[in-house]
Amino acid sequence: MPSLAVEKLNISYFRSHRAIQIACDPRPLAIYGANGAGKTNILEAVSLLSPGRGVRRASATDMVQKPENLGWKIKAVVRLHDRKYEIETWSENGNSRQVRIDNKNVTQVKLGKIVRILWLIPAMDRLWTEAADGRRRFLDRMTLSFDADHAENVLIYEKAMRERNRLLKDQVRDEHWYRAIESQMAKAAIKIRISRKEALKLVDAAQECSETIFPSAHLELVNAEDVEMPTNSQDLAELFSQYRKRDIIVGRTLLGPHRDDLYGVFSDKNIPAKDSSTGEQKALLISLILANCRALKEKTGTTPLLLLDEVAAHLDSNRREALYDEICALGAQAWLTGTGPELFQELGGRAQHLLAMDGDGKSSIAFK
Ligand SMILES: Nc1ncnc2c1ncn2[C@@H]1O[C@H](COP(=O)(O)OP(=O)(O)O)[C@@H](O)[C@H]1O
Ligand SMILES: [Mg+2]
Repeated sequence: MPSLAVEKLNISYFRSHRAIQIACDPRPLAIYGANGAGKTNILEAVSLLSPGRGVRRASATDMVQKPENLGWKIKAVVRLHDRKYEIETWSENGNSRQVRIDNKNVTQVKLGKIVRILWLIPAMDRLWTEAADGRRRFLDRMTLSFDADHAENVLIYEKAMRERNRLLKDQVRDEHWYRAIESQMAKAAIKIRISRKEALKLVDAAQECSETIFPSAHLELVNAEDVEMPTNSQDLAELFSQYRKRDIIVGRTLLGPHRDDLYGVFSDKNIPAKDSSTGEQKALLISLILANCRALKEKTGTTPLLLLDEVAAHLDSNRREALYDEICALGAQAWLTGTGPELFQELGGRAQHLLAMDGDGKSSIAFK
């Protein structure tokens, strides 16, 4: 039985879903239906059970059902090992989203301690060739799966950095304005880097000892500023202060984990991921997500929820079967989408099959 699974999901006035209820068992869910039927919207709703802006990185306002504009709510019962949690997250009038766990108002970062989610969506097809922020987010999701405090460390760092950037923009030169901020940034930055590196190490190791047919990738953490990054916070704070002159000229912080990047190499061919074929790049991402799952299961005994949007369509039936076999062997509750039921044939009775439909701009969902 999966260690982490959604048991109930209620979605209200969220994008195309006015009011849907899904009572699910721990098996994977295969959601099929025509384009625009509301499949990705369901995955997006599930993704909001973890901290952050979800699979589309949308604002709470974008998620409000149009034209009603009433605000939205997602309610879920999630089981983690033998403990159940009731999670509610909602937005009123497009205001930033709120979270409640077991009837207690909490901050978003608390979600990360319960629900670990990894996802693959079509927009990530260009992950290796586009700007670094997409890769950094991918890395951070990986990292968060291993270290629930990672989200909070990133928030602390970014908040302090915004303050520092304000000073830089205002051309403030007085040392004492910076010192406390830079020290706070340095402390958070060190934690962020340690966690990111640890996550990469774990995923690397999980790839080495597996027999998957998906290709493996070696990942490295690199930084836009090509300097040796100190490993203790005093030295890093000192480096921040040395960078100040340069930073004032550009009006922002140049050095730090907010400019980390992920460099991926296709191991078998020793070719950078960005130069691999589109199909290979996709296979690499699948491979990394599966390795992440294995590593997490081994380290914590918990498998994450997997959101795999339109992944099946890009795989031949051999690979599809291999993917499904791995998901089932891991015991992960994967939420898969595709346009037709034939994409999920290989899953058979190992999954729950659902049909999503669009009717007059409102989606519905039915078990098949
Ligand atoms: N805020 C919104 N309010 C109402 N409908 C929306 C909103 N955002 C997106 N939609 C609609 O949701 C529909 C389904 O989207 P999606 O889940 O992406 O479909 P798919 O099944 O292809 O993944 C689209 O037709 C889109 O117009
Ligand atoms: Mg979709």
